[in-house]
Amino acid sequence: MIPPEFEYLRRVLKDISGLDLSADKQYLIESRLLPVTRKCGLSGIGELVQKMKAGCSAIVEQVVEAMTTNETFFFRDKVPFDHFRNWIMPEILRVRANRRSIRIWCAAGSTGQEPYSIAMCLREMSAALSGWRVEILATDLSQDVIEKSKSGIYSQFEVQRGLPIQMLVKYFKQIGELWQINADIRAMVQHRQLNLLHDFSQLGTFDVIFCRNVLIYFDQDTKANVFDRLARIVEPDGVLVLGAAETVVGLTDAFKPLPERRGLYRPTAAVAEKLFAGGGMSRLTAMAGFGG
Ligand SMILES: C[S@@+](CC[C@H](N)C(=O)[O-])C[C@H]1O[C@@H](n2cnc3c(N)ncnc32)[C@H](O)[C@@H]1O
Repeated sequence: MIPPEFEYLRRVLKDISGLDLSADKQYLIESRLLPVTRKCGLSGIGELVQKMKAGCSAIVEQVVEAMTTNETFFFRDKVPFDHFRNWIMPEILRVRANRRSIRIWCAAGSTGQEPYSIAMCLREMSAALSGWRVEILATDLSQDVIEKSKSGIYSQFEVQRGLPIQMLVKYFKQIGELWQINADIRAMVQHRQLNLLHDFSQLGTFDVIFCRNVLIYFDQDTKANVFDRLARIVEPDGVLVLGAAETVVGLTDAFKPLPERRGLYRPTAAVAEKLFAGGGMSRLTAMAGFGG
């Protein structure tokens, strides 16, 4: 690959998906795009770039798909799910007792292990949630991973990563060498394709937003921009959950870390007040909420 091709691919990927590749990532582009060239019957990356420049959207789509990292597993990092079960949900049950509804957004849900981990946690507390309206929305840039997530079908290897055996037995059925998560758990998760670089204000407001292990691929300005827009749709007493290597610190004043709760963030009062004053918070209940 010659330098202008590399620069072109870097720019297109950043514009479309936010992926910020440093100048030393030529090997990564080559290793991921050579299979695409073979699949499309192209002579190499030079011809691939020519097709992209000629406006071949199918090729562009495949390039973006090939360059995104979809790595995920059930109950990834464990701690966020402990927080979810032991702290976030008990507080939601308390502060939403009148409304009896909860909305959760999994903003880069990949192949479904994250949203289904959330769904299984909620199913485990179904007695407390009886009569509640529960929504889990899983979105991702990639239509391929959304299709896999919708199917809820996983390999033996995938169900062995992070999923406690009791949950495998309870919530999955075996189909040959594969495992499918039960229909009632699948039905708890709605799916939709969504690019975090685009406007997502139409989704409404959420009590909890999981946005984990996706912003690490973006540059600082893009992260800050996404944080500012997330702050507008998380409830003032809601929670943003980030990945283990991610933080808002130094990037935005729209969220502050919750002390003693690693990976959890709350919109700052200033943001909540501004939205409330502007009428932007449709489902605002109480400014006082979780005790973190
Ligand atoms: C590494 S996975 C993380 C999955 C899951 N959140 C977790 O932590 O296990 C990152 C996901 O982000 C998605 N992604 C990348 N860029 C995106 C964008 N601009 N908008 C929405 N999703 C994006 C990828 O398709 C991929 O499925």
